[in-house]
Amino acid sequence: MAKATYIEHNGTVRSVEVDDGISLMEAALANLIPGIDGDCGGAAACATCHVHVAEEWLDKLPAMEPLEHSMLDMAAGSDHRSRLACQLKMCTKLDGIVVRTPLGQH
Ligand code: FES
Repeated sequence: MAKATYIEHNGTVRSVEVDDGISLMEAALANLIPGIDGDCGGAAACATCHVHVAEEWLDKLPAMEPLEHSMLDMAAGSDHRSRLACQLKMCTKLDGIVVRTPLGQH
């Protein structure tokens, strides 16, 4: 179990406890976090789970697969902090992670 904090573009902050192995997309859906839809079910094929990861967490994340990279290239508001929440599985190493939903996802 690890804590994840989601910050909406309007500043609303929500922190939830997430079991190990559950993705940040799945945790967002389970906790009704706005702005993360997960339309493709976690297949890295829709980018509706696009988040900006807080700078201090970027070097703790798993490497990006080519499919995630190509989806983020097409996602609105994508930058160096961008990841697909469905590709980020929670673990103790990520306890306390903070992600923001980009403007336009709500
Ligand atoms: Fe579709 Fe993450 S849920 S890319």
